[in-house]
Amino acid sequence: LVSDMKGVKAGKLRLAVITTAKYFVPRLLGPFCLRYPGIDVSLKVTNRERVLQRMADNEDDLYVLGQPPEGLEVVFEPFLENPLVVVASSSHPLAAEKIISPQRLVEEQFLMREPGSGIRLATEQFFAERALKLKVRMELGSNEAIKHAVAGGLGIAVLSAHTLALDHSSDELAILKVEGFPIRRHWYLAYPKDKRLSVIAQAFLDFLREESKLLGEHYLRGIPVFPGFSQDDQ
Ligand code: PGA
Repeated sequence: LVSDMKGVKAGKLRLAVITTAKYFVPRLLGPFCLRYPGIDVSLKVTNRERVLQRMADNEDDLYVLGQPPEGLEVVFEPFLENPLVVVASSSHPLAAEKIISPQRLVEEQFLMREPGSGIRLATEQFFAERALKLKVRMELGSNEAIKHAVAGGLGIAVLSAHTLALDHSSDELAILKVEGFPIRRHWYLAYPKDKRLSVIAQAFLDFLREESKLLGEHYLRGIPVFPGFSQDDQ
C-alpha cells in the first residue's frame, strides 16, 4: 500500500462523521495531511441519521458512527471508546451526590439533542429499558449548545465524554454519578460492504487504525469520567 500511495500525489478524501467525532477526527487529519500533502479532504459533521443517509446515497468515502445500524450491509470497525455521561451545572445539588439512581433523574429537566441524533437514541433506550420517562425541557441541535445551556442552569443532559475534553467550560459542568452510566459505546469506522475503497480512503483507514491504537490509551485520560469507569473493563 505504501508503494501505491507513493504514486498518489493528489486526490480527494470525503469523510462524513457524527457530531462527537469532530473532537477526534480533525486531529488526525493534521498528521495525515502532512504525510500526504496532495490530498484534499472534506469532512462533513452531522448527526447519525444524516450520516446513514449519506452512506445510503454513497456520498462519501468513509463514515464514522456511534452505533452500528441493524440490517445494513455495512463494514464496521470500532476504533475508540465514546462513553456517554450525565452532565449538570457544577452548582446543581446532584453534583455533590455519590450515587444517583436513574429514577431520580425523572424529576429533572432534560436538554435533549434533536431527533436523528445517536446520543438521543442511546439516552431514550437507556431510560425506556428502565420504564422511565424523562421531562424534556428543550431540544437543541448541537452538543456545544447543550453544554452551554447546562452550564447556564437550564437543565441536565446526556453527552459524550469527549465533548468535555479540552474545554474551559468543563469547570462549570459536573459529571453526575448515575447508576448505569457511563453508557459504554464506541466510535465505528464504517463503509458499505460492496464499496471499493479508493487508495486514499484505504490509506486513511490504515492511518486511523494505527493512530487510534497509539492515542487510544491516552485520549480519554484527560476526560473527567468518574471513578469506576476504566477503559479496560470491557
Ligand atoms: P449524534 O451521534 O451526533 O448522532 O448524536 C453522536 C454519538 O453517537 O456519539
